[in-house]
Amino acid sequence: MTEALDWWRTATVYQIYVRSFADSNGDGVGDLEGIRSRLDYLKDLGVDAVWLTPFYPSPMVDNGYDVADPRDVDPLFGDLATFDRLLADAHARGIKVTVDVVPNHTSSQHPWFQAALASPPGSPERARYWFRDGKGPDGDEPPNNWQSCFKGPAWTRVADGQWYLHLFTPEQPDLNWSNPEVVADFHRTLRFWLDRGVDGFRIDVAHGMAKPADLPDMDPRAMFNVVEHANYYDPRLNNEGVLELHEGIRRVLDEYPGTAAIGEVWTFDDEQMSQYIAPGRLHLGFDFRLALTEFDADKLRAAIDRSLAAPLSVGAPPTWTLSNHDVWRQVSRYGDGEIGLARARAMALVELALPGVVYLYNGEELGLPNGPLTEEQSTDPGGTSDMQGSRDVARIPLPWSGDMPPFGFTTGQRTWLPMPVEWADRTVEKQEADRSSTLWLYRDALRLRKTHPAMSGDTVSWEDAPPGCFVMRREGGLRCVLNSSDAPVDLPPGEVLLASSQVQDGKLQPNAAAWLV
Ligand code: NOJ
Repeated sequence: MTEALDWWRTATVYQIYVRSFADSNGDGVGDLEGIRSRLDYLKDLGVDAVWLTPFYPSPMVDNGYDVADPRDVDPLFGDLATFDRLLADAHARGIKVTVDVVPNHTSSQHPWFQAALASPPGSPERARYWFRDGKGPDGDEPPNNWQSCFKGPAWTRVADGQWYLHLFTPEQPDLNWSNPEVVADFHRTLRFWLDRGVDGFRIDVAHGMAKPADLPDMDPRAMFNVVEHANYYDPRLNNEGVLELHEGIRRVLDEYPGTAAIGEVWTFDDEQMSQYIAPGRLHLGFDFRLALTEFDADKLRAAIDRSLAAPLSVGAPPTWTLSNHDVWRQVSRYGDGEIGLARARAMALVELALPGVVYLYNGEELGLPNGPLTEEQSTDPGGTSDMQGSRDVARIPLPWSGDMPPFGFTTGQRTWLPMPVEWADRTVEKQEADRSSTLWLYRDALRLRKTHPAMSGDTVSWEDAPPGCFVMRREGGLRCVLNSSDAPVDLPPGEVLLASSQVQDGKLQPNAAAWLV
């Protein structure tokens, strides 16, 4: 049987934060062999593909998003042979493998940046990055007012007085994509992994790769509101020139049928989003609207309508995500404790009822909340104005088994971030044994999503619902009912296929969702 080349249009993709999934060598940091040893877990969960966060040689200033060599594996995570084994074993189980690529910047330890530092202003080595003279009589003011997406100015001065641009940490200098050498090297990286057999890519900062040559000042208000961002002038991101770069990337992927790229595109401007995923550009764009919408049926319904319309207008599938390694875990966003978990379970059913592509973040299937971390324990250099502090709270290693940390994550004593003892009842082992667990809710939902005929169609419609609730209907007939009010409500007639909390006397509890046919 030939495999469907457009698998990515309806896939459920599981994001593996490599450091935190499973450790095979006892050093307390997850690795590729650890992932390989847990592939059956992913098969049982029912995901179609994985996205691996960067595992390339890196000084790990930003946990691997500072890449020193994009065509190798950091010894912390394994080696190329392990990667090839992981790929083959995943494919043998019918799981596609997509990998993160980081085109916007390199590590400051990348040989190119080291060469740029050793070369004079105006040299071809500096032309791969954004080196500029400073402003003011002594050139001791940055070339413009851009701020890093993390904190502080986006410019750092080097010994000879020039400044270089970095939208993230100073250890992540931005590449200059108007330089053909930069384009060619990235295409080489894509081919390197495609030739090994990967099924696609997640493109880091896909909206930031192009900058206007004259680097005009930004409106400082753009820093502080990601949702309203489109209202303010911000030449750091979403420049039109970036679309052409994605067309170039698409041409490379088109040489490898059945592969796909999803861009990390932070924009809430629907027209802009659809430009990124118009024919001939990115296959998919991350849509973060659901992750940023509070647990409120009316607001969620409005978010869903918008997030469906933009991709459909250009024939691309919508994408959905409730969390990733950069934002708070949904259980904590929705209020933590029992309520947070109940709402996260309800939202899993909402998300998995939607047409298109779903991105799950490792650990959400266990209902994990944020981990408690002190400032000293956090390793995160970033944490942006939108992320409410350290992102490491959402990056705690996964609890697999046993009653005490490290819960089977590693054979060693320590884990790179401490694991809370309270997670003893959230382990995979405990949840596998409990049919009412969150893990089983995800397993059941994924199986139905894949196999039930009522899940068909590209759009949804809305039926009448009590205040604080919605009834969303797929073309194939599945209805997903969400109750975000604080009272139980009558479910519409029909057979309940799955519910996030117990349905009694035909009533759906508050903070719950159910699927009906
Ligand atoms: C987005 C990644 O998801 C994030 O973790 C990283 O810090 C920045 N891009 C910079 O690469």
